[in-house]
Amino acid sequence: MANFSEHDLTDEVLRSFASTPDARLKFLIEETVKSLHDLVRRTGLTFEEWNQAIELLTRTGQTCTPLRQEFILLSDVLGVSMLVDAVNHREREGATETTVLGPFYVGEHRETPHGADISEGIDGEPMFVRSRVTDLAGNPLAGAEIDVWHADEDGFYDSQKSDYATHGPSLRARFVTDCDGRFSFRTILPCSYPIPTDGPVGDLITATKRHPMRPAHVHFLVKARGYEPLITHVFLDGDAYLRSDVVFGVKDELVARVEPRSDPALPNGEQVAGPWHLMSYEFQMKPGTGLVPQPMMSAAE
Ligand code: BEZ
Ligand code: FE
Repeated sequence: MANFSEHDLTDEVLRSFASTPDARLKFLIEETVKSLHDLVRRTGLTFEEWNQAIELLTRTGQTCTPLRQEFILLSDVLGVSMLVDAVNHREREGATETTVLGPFYVGEHRETPHGADISEGIDGEPMFVRSRVTDLAGNPLAGAEIDVWHADEDGFYDSQKSDYATHGPSLRARFVTDCDGRFSFRTILPCSYPIPTDGPVGDLITATKRHPMRPAHVHFLVKARGYEPLITHVFLDGDAYLRSDVVFGVKDELVARVEPRSDPALPNGEQVAGPWHLMSYEFQMKPGTGLVPQPMMSAAE
């Protein structure tokens, strides 16, 4: 049959996918077609609006580079990333809460000794992070790998800077837990920062009068053999954007009190002149398996 009406066109498109051998792929395509067709009917979408949507997606793809993932950003500001996170973590069983990976997991996490300074001389107030990885019963997990990354005190990640190719990673490292499940490092206090607004996602945020801010946080990706990989952040208590994160990523349990300290030495014995901060946080891992996110592309490519 030809001359499809706005109603029977959907059935005809669904029929065209009827021979898809992979059942899950077939289901996902069918549901996508149904949702998209419903959207067009419900909104009475105009040609101009459809063209604008296509242009937004085109520019989103064109903005991606080996060090910039605008599609993840789009998914994040639309709340899709946190929704995928929610439906995939319905049974937490006491494990640490998860949140978005974000677009700045670019790889390049070098294994680093406990207590080391990962700020490599970048300006900022010193912060010492003391942490531990355990199972759900509180038993230490030795040999767990933790990738850490965060922004500087101006709100930029190393990979956003023009000298990244020559200077390499900073505020980015990998630790392996000791026999008590512990790891620690020195860094600088992160601050709240805007997501990149110089691309199509920024245009969307501006056009809809949203603010682009994320509350201050440190990213952690924890991997331990026999346990679900944990993708999370620890947020700094007191941040002004904790209740309005532009990517909807805050969960109360992930907010840590970061203690202001004035003792002359950090826990690693280094002397400090002036105030510093202590972040203490423990991660509880759930038994299981799961996909470890791959850095989108090697920064060196
Ligand atoms: C981040 O925290 O790195 C981030 C997450 C989602 C969107 C933009 C940035
Ligand atoms: Fe971040």
